[in-house]
Amino acid sequence: TARRPFIAGNWKMNLDHLQSIAFVQKLAWSLKDAKHDFGKVEAAIFPPFTDLRSVQTLIDADKLDLELGAQDLSDNDSGAYTGDISGAFLARLDVKYVIVGHSERRTIHGETDEVVGAKVAAAHRHGLVPVLCVGETAEDLEKHGPSAVPVAQLRAALTTLPAGAEIVVAYEPVWAIGSGQAATPDQAEQVCAALRDALVEIAGADSAAATRILYGGSVKANNIASFLREPNVDGALVGGASLDITEFASIVRYQN
Ligand code: G3H
Repeated sequence: TARRPFIAGNWKMNLDHLQSIAFVQKLAWSLKDAKHDFGKVEAAIFPPFTDLRSVQTLIDADKLDLELGAQDLSDNDSGAYTGDISGAFLARLDVKYVIVGHSERRTIHGETDEVVGAKVAAAHRHGLVPVLCVGETAEDLEKHGPSAVPVAQLRAALTTLPAGAEIVVAYEPVWAIGSGQAATPDQAEQVCAALRDALVEIAGADSAAATRILYGGSVKANNIASFLREPNVDGALVGGASLDITEFASIVRYQN
């Protein structure tokens, strides 16, 4: 398959402004020094909203090969939604990707599949690529088995995929997030394959074959390669390990 592996660093609500700037510069230098081939592995970082502009300015000024993503967006385009950020605002900042439906948004902010679906549509309206997160809790896993909940979440949020619209899917078992207990590569492959089968029905075989499906949950430099060996795992959504330059750079350079 011709899917370009994708390593996404979700900073969540970490790193203050000065740390963000220093981080991006050092990460870029470290990848440049290592002659990282971005054509072979795409890398993106997802800073907090308040640092998107400064990070984008740095990427632009230094012509860095890093892609920029946001961690969430509003399902509305404008209006009386105090505190919300619309896709239009993100598009103006040259943001390419936007995380949608992260389990922390679903649990802490009560986002339903319906809201998540509306956010996917909002991202597409503004030319952004949604990184749609799905994943089961430990309880779901015990009750329903490995793929049922993530596949149901995917179907609920993505009833159709408009022609030409790109999406990235991230399978993040809630029990593996920040726990140090990653899924096994076999477990990740099984669910990612089931998600791809569902994508065939939702979007057609060509779209499904072109769509990147990531694994997320306690990905580190020492386990990334084992996930990427699986045929249906096309990259990783990295949380904790994306806050350490050396660690994140080695994850991006997992092929070396
Ligand atoms: O978005 C990232 C995920 O929540 C994974 O976080 O790598 O700290 O387990 P983690």
